[in-house]
Amino acid sequence: MDRIRIVGGRTLEGSIKISGAKNAALPLMIASLLTRETLTLENTPSVADVGMLLQILSHHGVDYSVDGRRPGDEPHAARTLHLAARRIVDITAPYDLVSKMRASFWVIAPLLARMGEARVSLPGGCAIGTRPVDLLLMALEKLGVSIEIEAGYVHAWAPKGLIGGEINFPKITVGGTHTAMMAASLARGHTLITNAAREPEVADVAACLVKMGAKIKGVGQATLEIEGVGALSGAHHTVLPDRIETGTYAMAVAMAGGDVLLERAQPGLLQSALDILSQAGAEISPTNEGIRVRRDGAGISAVDVTTAPFPGFPTDLQAQFMALMTKAKGRSRITETIFENRFMHVQELARLGARIKLDGDVALVDGVSELQGAPVMATDLRASVSLVIAALAARGESIVNRVYHLDRGFEHLEKKLGGCGAIIERIGGSN
Ligand code: EPZ
Repeated sequence: MDRIRIVGGRTLEGSIKISGAKNAALPLMIASLLTRETLTLENTPSVADVGMLLQILSHHGVDYSVDGRRPGDEPHAARTLHLAARRIVDITAPYDLVSKMRASFWVIAPLLARMGEARVSLPGGCAIGTRPVDLLLMALEKLGVSIEIEAGYVHAWAPKGLIGGEINFPKITVGGTHTAMMAASLARGHTLITNAAREPEVADVAACLVKMGAKIKGVGQATLEIEGVGALSGAHHTVLPDRIETGTYAMAVAMAGGDVLLERAQPGLLQSALDILSQAGAEISPTNEGIRVRRDGAGISAVDVTTAPFPGFPTDLQAQFMALMTKAKGRSRITETIFENRFMHVQELARLGARIKLDGDVALVDGVSELQGAPVMATDLRASVSLVIAALAARGESIVNRVYHLDRGFEHLEKKLGGCGAIIERIGGSN
């Protein structure tokens, strides 16, 4: 298992190219199942989750090539993907695939739309909480789908095809909104979705569906109106920049100090996080090329944060922000409202010398003047990268174990940070 070695104390100077968003690329790839024609996706990130989803989609019958290469050449590399689901060969998404990546549960919508039936394994819990799928199933039921849970699988069928309906989400859900949009696009008649997720990745998927011929009104808004069509066509779409990667590197610069241009980053995708970073003492300036982040002499100020659905502060940046607050002047109160168990990084940050108290969904972080390097490990993607951020500002050497979590969602992390002067290297290993 690879590890990452970091020696803290260097400021970051230079530029980092922001990749395409993993959390848009995954549902966009799943949308390829909605059509017999080829969907071309540009700017997909070279991350392990993309590689894994390609394997899952090929199980259902999707033919794909990556930048013209054929399957098997380089499983994790992805830039331009060509995906074609001319014939769906399997309507079952088995446990061993769905349990590797929760988002693959979302294949249920296109399988139902194209085949009238799907059997998809329940994904189960994960490191950040129980993460149920009840609202996804509720949305499908509103579109005329019958559902039974059998031996850990959701068996869903719609013998008369999907029928438009009214879906009001009692809680904002990204996956629920993706599922509802994909199913409604091929349902007969009109669908009204209220309290939809407004995350930019949801809007990106909606924009791609529109290019494929879907009739969606209200893209990017909480109310979506969809008029179903008989079939969708292929399309050409460029994945939007990754706002979580952007925020992560912005926090790394705020933590280590320095001056870095985040190329291709779009400030509007993460304004709430950028505002919080400014309050914490970073200088943020949008430029024609992206976002410039600076922090020199000034210390880091403690700021309180509460996670919320877009346009609020994203849960996917909570761990990284907590890492920054470990060196702030004073106490910061961080409230996690989206996932109930998303504080797994707290114990590991403590290994680096952080002082954090947990009280239910609140973490109280008392800034310290110095962190010290240590061996650490984390249980999920964003928690792992929070340890990298802390290690950049810790005295001495840190080893971050279980790098496969990072590889799921960060493209060339050590090259990007190393290119800005961080002392960071990957150590290949078998332990
Ligand atoms: C997406 O997960 C992202 N994943 C997550 O990113 C992100 O943290 C999350 O949205 C919130 O922004 C991808 O896009 C692949 P939700 P998703 O449905 O869709 C509850 C990362 O690190 N809920 O918006 O699974 C749920 O438990 C990942 O990149 C139900 O109660 O999240 C949570 O409390 C991790 N019932 C809240 O809604 C349901 O049926 C929001 O979850 C569905 C969700």
